[in-house]
Amino acid sequence: MSTASGKKRIGILTGGGDCPGLNAVIRGVAKASMRKFNMEVVGIEDAFAGLVQRKVIDLTWERASGILTQGGTILGTTNRANPFAWPVDEDNPEQTEDRSDQVVNYIHELGLNTLVCIGGDGTQTIAHKLSQKGIHVVGVPKTIDNDIEGTDITFGFDSAVSTATEAIDKIHSTAMSHHRVMVVELMGRYAGWLALHAGIAGGGDAILIPEIPYDIEAVCSLAVERSKRGRRFSIIVVAEGARPQGGQPVILRIVKSSPDPIRLGGIGQKIAHDIEEKTGIESRVTVLGHLQRGGTPTAYDRVLATRFGVKAAELCYDGVSGVMVALRGTEIISVPLADVSEQNRLVSPDHPLIEAAHGVDVCLGI
Ligand code: F6P
Repeated sequence: MSTASGKKRIGILTGGGDCPGLNAVIRGVAKASMRKFNMEVVGIEDAFAGLVQRKVIDLTWERASGILTQGGTILGTTNRANPFAWPVDEDNPEQTEDRSDQVVNYIHELGLNTLVCIGGDGTQTIAHKLSQKGIHVVGVPKTIDNDIEGTDITFGFDSAVSTATEAIDKIHSTAMSHHRVMVVELMGRYAGWLALHAGIAGGGDAILIPEIPYDIEAVCSLAVERSKRGRRFSIIVVAEGARPQGGQPVILRIVKSSPDPIRLGGIGQKIAHDIEEKTGIESRVTVLGHLQRGGTPTAYDRVLATRFGVKAAELCYDGVSGVMVALRGTEIISVPLADVSEQNRLVSPDHPLIEAAHGVDVCLGI
């Protein structure tokens, strides 16, 4: 398919939670599409919602310029827009219906050859389902959680690690002054990559991740032992998805119409409370929350996002579909969406980073 001008036309959307580097990908896809591959580019607003509610803009060269360093996404996003489970009416978000045929028709009406879906696991799963309905899609892996299968790393992760590390550095001095246990709760729903990287980089004394259910007694012993040795403070870095042995993660709420329905939060508070109760050491919690998703991307993320974007444009031009761009070693490759959707890349117990953490005597909660 091509437009009246004879050019191919592609659409771009950003889905799920935002992160630093989204605009750098949009810029990479759009500029390479226009300049290198002579294609037209349409921006879809607010993730898949834009395809249900018909919200699109022409992504011109001017619109794609000057956004490399900007956090957020110029296209807007939401993690509540799933065309396969769309709320029947706004007052009743629990009751959903399948609007995917409407979306398919609209994509045809727009004359899009390919839809570039920049997002995390929820977005890639919807992209895969659309490709099964005959739509050409190319995915770009985004998330600060770094938990997408098929790629060594997602863009946004390095920036979040950097923000979290800086925060842990700052927590250190106040922890030392007050001789407290400071619990720092980071994001990371299913995977502990962010807590593990930032925890190691920030010199955390304990790092608790979803993949290794923790024993609170082990964490308490760490704090007490450190106190006895004269280190009268401890930094506990915890991923929001961490859980005690035999227990569950702390769920804040469930958003039924969302591709990622579970919202976590509160484990840091629980751990601080338990430590104080069991050891008598004053314990405080800092929840970094959405700070980790904001701000300008690091240089690493700008480069990765640009490479992902240019590769996605090339795949669109070549008519390749049902794939996601990925980093493998130093190469940008493409992997089948079928191998990516509905999965999470978790930290394995024998990962070299776990070994490194053990090597510097970090408590991993067991
Ligand atoms: O998946 C990315 C992520 O930042 C998770 O770490 C976190 O659980 C979730 O998004 C939070 O989403 P929301 O924007 O709904 O608070």
